[in-house]
Amino acid sequence: MHDNQIALITGANKGIGLTIAKNLAEHGLTVLVGSRDLANGETAAQGIDGDAHAIQLDVTDQASITAAADRVRDEFGRLDVLVNNAGISHATPWEEMPGNTFEERAQSGQLSKVSLDELREIFDTNVFGALAVTHAALPLLRESPSPRVVMVSSGVGSLANASQPGNRYRAMFGAYSASKAAMNAITVGLAISLESEGIRVNAISPGFVATDLNNHRGVLPVEEGGKDAIRLALQEGGPTGTFTDQDGETIPW
Ligand code: NAI
Repeated sequence: MHDNQIALITGANKGIGLTIAKNLAEHGLTVLVGSRDLANGETAAQGIDGDAHAIQLDVTDQASITAAADRVRDEFGRLDVLVNNAGISHATPWEEMPGNTFEERAQSGQLSKVSLDELREIFDTNVFGALAVTHAALPLLRESPSPRVVMVSSGVGSLANASQPGNRYRAMFGAYSASKAAMNAITVGLAISLESEGIRVNAISPGFVATDLNNHRGVLPVEEGGKDAIRLALQEGGPTGTFTDQDGETIPW
C-alpha cells in the first residue's frame, strides 16, 4: 500500500486543475494529473515539484474513465482525494471562435437561444462526466481512511443568487450556469448518499479566474482560484455537502 495520500484531479494539465495538482504535490500527496491528451498531462506532471503522474482521462469517455480507475487500483490501490475539475463553458473552445467577445459568447448560452446539442455537450462534461468519474472512483475511495471528493463548480450555478434581481451574474445565466447548478444538485445528492460511509463531497467556486475557459477575461490568478479546492482536498474530516467560494465563504445553493 502506498504511504502517500493519493489525489486524482481531472483536467489538471492546465488552469485551475494544474494549480491544485501543484499545491497538493507540494503538500506531499501523490498527484495523478488527469488529462484528455496524455502527452499534455505528461508535460504538466514534469513541471510539478513532487510525486506527480500523468493519467489519460477523458471524462466523457467511459472506456477512458474505466481504464484510469483500473490503473489507479493497480498502481496505488486506493484514492484519498478526487477533484472533479474538468469543465467547459461552451462546446467550441475559444481559439476556434476568433472574434467572438466574452459578452457574445455569454449571450449565446442563454437558455432561450442555446442549441440542445451545445447544452448536451456542456452537461456531458460538467455534469455526467463528473458523476461518471465519481462512480468509477468510489470503490477506490472506499479504500481510504479519509475519502473526499471536491466538485469544482461555480458561483454562477447558484440558483439562489441567480434569482436575486440585483445579482451581477443574473444576466449571464446560461447553459454553463445551468450545468453548474446541476453539478451542485449532484454534489448534494452524493453527499447525502455517501454520508453514512464517511465519504465527503463538497462543491467550490473558484471565483472569476483568468484561464482559457474565459479567454483570460477572469480577474483572479489561478493560485487564488484553486485555494478552496486545495483546502477541502487537504482536509481530513470536516463537513460534507457544502458550497463555498475561494475564501471558504458559504454560497447559497
Ligand atoms: P481551463 O479551460 O484552463 O481548464 C479546463 C480543464 O478541463 C482543461 O484541462 C481541459 O483539458 C479539461 N477538460 C475539458 N473537457 C474535458 C474532458 N472531456 N475530459 C477531461 N478533461 C477535460 O479552465 P479552468 O478555468 O481552469 O476550469 C477548471 C474548472 O473551474 C472548470 O470546471 C470550470 O468550470 C471551473 N470554473 C472556472 C472559473 C473561471 O473563472 N476560470 C469560474 C468558475 C468555475
